[in-house]
Amino acid sequence: MSEANGEKITKPDKINLTLKVWRQAGPNKKGRLETHEAKGISTDMSFLEMLDVVNEGLTLEGKEPIAFDHDCREGICGTCGAVVNGLAHGPERETTLCQLHMRHFKDGDTLVIEPWRARPFKVIKDLAVDRSAFDKIIEAGGYVSVNTGGAPEANTIPVPPETAELAMDAAACIGCGACVAACPNASAMLFVGAKISHMALLPQGKPEAARRALSMLRKMDELGFGNCGNEAECEAVCPKNITITNIARFNREFLKASLCSKEK
Ligand code: SF4
Ligand code: FES
Repeated sequence: MSEANGEKITKPDKINLTLKVWRQAGPNKKGRLETHEAKGISTDMSFLEMLDVVNEGLTLEGKEPIAFDHDCREGICGTCGAVVNGLAHGPERETTLCQLHMRHFKDGDTLVIEPWRARPFKVIKDLAVDRSAFDKIIEAGGYVSVNTGGAPEANTIPVPPETAELAMDAAACIGCGACVAACPNASAMLFVGAKISHMALLPQGKPEAARRALSMLRKMDELGFGNCGNEAECEAVCPKNITITNIARFNREFLKASLCSKEK
């Protein structure tokens, strides 16, 4: 229950929605928006649970359920994601689709649900997209030098707390791809900026920093991601609050690497 102008407003426990969902049988098939009614949806459900209910109905009718990506359903793994009414991961800030609850929608709402749209992310089926391009960028980042032998005593590598905090903030990126989906250029700079920052800030990541920055940027370009246009749409939709200062750090790392590295 909430209050507006002194009047008590009771929010319904259940809502009815009209969904316009992107249906596409395969990567090279033509897609279209298909209308489905989602009736009696509990406002305590998550967005994915709502899709589960719709899919149960479709299955009972002998129809093909809506394919969508998911795994942990706890906002940790980065597997889920769809564009809801034009917003990657839907209308709530710093929230993954699996953690978006139906209480944020109103009875009678129409929701247009589409997959991430970016050239390097091919639609596999309906809302499920292939984000293996991110894995290829991570792979291009390569290894971190680690001396063999027993684990060193933690205090032998001092890291200022502010630096550790910044590295931890960058490490929060779950690789969901919402930043790419929201960017008009389909740039992966926020994602790569987070990964580069995470490693470049810590002493353990410094020996290979130059090679890593050059290699990840090269791979990003090769896979067809666009360049950053400073729109900051990526930051606005990021469920883990990764800020564009990570892109600035990535640019600095890249510049340093270009000037100092023997690698071409
Ligand atoms: S930077 Fe944010 S939006 Fe982009 S992949 Fe990482 S968590 Fe997702
Ligand atoms: S399913 Fe893991 S973050 Fe949403």
